[in-house]
Amino acid sequence: MNKVTLPSLGVTLEVEPGASLLETLRHAGVDLESPCDGSGTCGKCRVKLAAHERAHVRESAHDLLSDAEREEGFVLACQASICGDLEIETDAANAEGEGLRILSEGHGLDVALEPWISKTFDPATASTRILAGNTLLGVEPGDTTGRLYGLAIDIGTTTLVAALVDLRTGCELATASSLNPQARYGQDVLSRIKLGSAPDGLAKLQGDLIAELNRHAADAAAQAGVDPRDIYEAVFSGNTTMLYLAVGTDPATLGKYPYTLTRRGAEHVGATGIGLEISPLGLVYLPPVMSAYVGADITSGILAADLPHTKGVVLFVDIGTNGEMVLGIDGKLTATSTAAGPAFEGMNITCGMRAGRGAVERVSLSDDGLAFATIGSTEPSGLCGSGLLDVVGELAAHGGVDKNGRFQHNGTAPDKPWKSQWERVDGKPVFRITGPVYLSQKDVRQVQLAKAAIRAGIELMLKENGLTPARVDRVLIAGSFGFHLRTESLINLGLLPRAFAGRVEFVGNTSRTGAQALLLNHPARGRLARVAGTVNVLELANNPAFETTFLQSLAF
Ligand code: FES
Repeated sequence: MNKVTLPSLGVTLEVEPGASLLETLRHAGVDLESPCDGSGTCGKCRVKLAAHERAHVRESAHDLLSDAEREEGFVLACQASICGDLEIETDAANAEGEGLRILSEGHGLDVALEPWISKTFDPATASTRILAGNTLLGVEPGDTTGRLYGLAIDIGTTTLVAALVDLRTGCELATASSLNPQARYGQDVLSRIKLGSAPDGLAKLQGDLIAELNRHAADAAAQAGVDPRDIYEAVFSGNTTMLYLAVGTDPATLGKYPYTLTRRGAEHVGATGIGLEISPLGLVYLPPVMSAYVGADITSGILAADLPHTKGVVLFVDIGTNGEMVLGIDGKLTATSTAAGPAFEGMNITCGMRAGRGAVERVSLSDDGLAFATIGSTEPSGLCGSGLLDVVGELAAHGGVDKNGRFQHNGTAPDKPWKSQWERVDGKPVFRITGPVYLSQKDVRQVQLAKAAIRAGIELMLKENGLTPARVDRVLIAGSFGFHLRTESLINLGLLPRAFAGRVEFVGNTSRTGAQALLLNHPARGRLARVAGTVNVLELANNPAFETTFLQSLAF
C-alpha cells in the first residue's frame, strides 16, 4: 500500500499502488475540477507536486500541459497513478468548494404569506395536525405550531444555494451554498444527461446531490438553531435536467430529439422518497418546466422578475452554462435557450477557474496600461468568467483582437501601453494578464462560441416577435455570476447588442428568489403554472436560421 498525505486537510489515506490520483483526491474530499470526469480531455485536474514527489506518480501520455507547466511540477490527476508515498500540498480553496464565490442573493420579492403547509393545535387531543392545503399529512403529539420551516433551493448546474425560511413569519433564517457535487462528473448538462441515462449513473448523480442538500439543510438548521425535522416543505428550482436528477427521473429523453418531457413539474414528491432528510412528512415542490431546456429556474425567474405583469418590452437573460432567455411584450412571453458551454464558468479556458479566491475577476485596459482585480484581493491564480469576459471585451474594444477574434500581437494594433503583455508560451502568442494568468487564442475562440450562442438566441427571439434591439426597454441579466459582470464588457464582446446600453439591470439569482416566493405563497404556484402553459417556447435546435445567426454573431 502507498500512503497519501494531505497536510493542509489533516488527511492521510492508504491506497493500492496504481490508484488514480484523481480518485484518491476525491476520496480525501478535495473537490478538484474535473469537467471531463477523468477522460483526459479538459486539462483542468492539474495538481502541482513538489520535485521530490514527482517520481511517485506515473502519468499517461497527454499533451494538455505545456513544457513550462510540467517543469513547474504540474501533473493531470486523472492521468496520474500513484506508485509511491505522496505528500500533496492542496490549496485549501479546492477542498469542498471553500472560498468559492457563489451568488446567493437575488432581488427581494414581496409576496403574501400563504404557505402550502400549515399546523393547527387541537387542545382536545393535545396534538398538532399538519396540513398540506386541506389534506392531512399527519399528527404530532403536543403543540408544535411554533415550529414550521421551509427550504428554498436553487440547484444550479455548477452551484447550489439553500435558504431556510420560517413559514410562520416569512423570515429567512439562514443560507448555505456550495458547488454542485455533480460537477465533478461533467461540467455541462449534456454530460450529466449522458451519465444519468444509465441506472447506476443516475443513482450516483442523485445520491451525491441529495447528500449535499442534506448537508445544507443540516447546516442552515444549525445556524438558525432549529431541528431539520421541523422543515416540512422544500422548493427545488433548477433547469429541467437538474430537477430530473434531483428526484431520480431518467433524463434520457432530454438529450435526444424530439427532447420530450417525462415530467413537467408543478407537482410534489415526498421528501423521504428521494432521501431528503427533513420531516418524514415533508414534501418537495417542483415548479413547472416549459421544455427540456427551458426549466424551473426560468419559471422561477419569470415570477421573480414579474414578467407577466411588466409593461413594455423586457428581455430577461440568465447567463450560465446555458443561456436561457425570456422576452416579454406587455406580459406576453417567448422563451428559448442556447448552449453557451462552460466557458463563462471559467471552464475550457487555459487559465480558467471558477469564481473562487485568487480568480482574476476584473480586467481593464487604458492609457495607463492593464489593471486587474482578484477575488479576495489575493495572489492571482486563474481567470474566472467575469475576468475572462472583461479581458476579451477590453481587447476587442482596444484593437487587441480583430473582429474575427484574431490576436493583433504583431504590431498591427496601435502602439498601446499594454503592448508588453504579448508573450509566447510553447511558441504560441498569449496575452499575459499577470503572473501565471494569461489568455490564449483558443480561449478567445471559446468566448466567441459562447457569446455567439447567446447573441443568436437574443436575435432570433426578437426576430420571432418582429422587434429590433432598439425596441427593448429593459434588459434583465440574471444568473449565478450575473452580478459580477460589467455591461460594458457584454456590449464590447457583442454578447449584447450596443442598442442595449443604458438599459441593462443585474437582477441576481432569480431562480432562488422565485423558489422562495413559491415556498411562501402557494397560490403563486397555480398562477405560474398557468403562465408557463402560455409561454411560446422557441426551439432553436430545429430552427434553420440559428446556424446563420450564430455564425454572424461570432464577430466582435
Ligand atoms: S483532464 Fe483530468 S479530469 Fe479532465
